[in-house]
Amino acid sequence: MPSDLAPVPTHTEARFLEIHSLSARFVSHLGELDALDNVSLSVQQGEFICLVGPSGCGKSTLLRIVAGLIPPTVGTVALRGSAHHAPGRELGLVFQQPTLLPWRSVERNVALPLELAGVAPDVRGRRVADLLALVGLTDFAHEYPANLSGGMAQRAAIARALAQNPEVLLLDEPFGALDALTREHMAGELLRIWEQTRKTVLMVTHNVEEAALLADRVIVMSPRPGRVIARITVPLPRPRSVALLGTQPLQQIAQQLRAALSRGGSE
Ligand SMILES: Nc1ncnc2c1ncn2[C@@H]1O[C@H](COP(=O)(O)OP(=O)(O)OP(=O)(O)O)[C@@H](O)[C@H]1O
Ligand SMILES: [Mg+2]
Repeated sequence: MPSDLAPVPTHTEARFLEIHSLSARFVSHLGELDALDNVSLSVQQGEFICLVGPSGCGKSTLLRIVAGLIPPTVGTVALRGSAHHAPGRELGLVFQQPTLLPWRSVERNVALPLELAGVAPDVRGRRVADLLALVGLTDFAHEYPANLSGGMAQRAAIARALAQNPEVLLLDEPFGALDALTREHMAGELLRIWEQTRKTVLMVTHNVEEAALLADRVIVMSPRPGRVIARITVPLPRPRSVALLGTQPLQQIAQQLRAALSRGGSE
C-alpha cells in the first residue's frame, strides 16, 4: 500500500475534532425553523462515529456545518484545535446519492479533486489507481456512471472523497438508496476500507444494525431541533465483518439504539 493511503498513527488525540454547542436556525419565507439545538461532540482521531435520529432532526445540517458548507447559528467546529469553517481538503464528503459527473469516467470522477488541486498527471494517475483498487473498482476505471450499479457508484463517490487524503470522512446516508443486500455488502466494504485507512468517520444512517456494526460510538439525536440524547459505545472487537449482523451482542446494541430512539429525548 502506498504511504499516503496507509493508516494514520494510532495515537489518540483527545481533541481531534471538537463540535461545540452547535445550534442551527433556518429563516425562510415560512418563518424560522430550529434544526439543531446545542449539539456538542468530541471525536478522537481514527474514531468511527455513527449519527442516528429521526428524519428532519438535523443530521445532514450537522454534517454540512462540520464540512464548512454552511455556518452554524451558534457554536464552533475545530479540527486539531483550529476553527474549521470553510470546505477544504481535510474533510471528504459523501452524500446519499453519489453525485458523479455523468460525462466523466469513474477514473476521471475520482481524479477531479486532484485535477482541481493542480496535482501533476503522473502523481494523480497513481493515486487514482490506488484508490480504485482500494474500493474494488479497478476493472471499471473507464466505465461511465450511467453503467454502474448503485453500490459501484457509491464506491466511486467514496474513492473521490478519499482522493485528497482527508483527515475526516463525512458520510451522509451513503447506502440509503441501495437495496438491503447491496447495503449489507457495502457496510462490509466500508469496514474493510476503514481498516486500511483508519480515517476518522462521521456517518449518518437510519439503520441501527448498520450503526452497531460500523461504529465505535453511536450518537442518538432527538426529533427536531436535534439534540444529542444518547452516546452509546459499541464494545464489539475489531476487525469486524458483516457476519456479526445476526449475532446477539450486535442485536443487543441495536436494541439499545432502538430504545433510545423511541424515547426520543422525552425522559
Ligand atoms: N437550507 C435550509 N433552509 C431551510 N430549512 C432547512 C434547510 N436545510 C434543512 N432545513 C430544515 O432543517 C431541518 C433539518 O433538516 P436535515 O436535512 O438536516 O434533517 P435530517 O436529519 O438530515 O433528515 P433526513 O433523515 O430526512 O435526511 C428540516 O426541518 C429541514 O426542513
Ligand atoms: Mg439528511
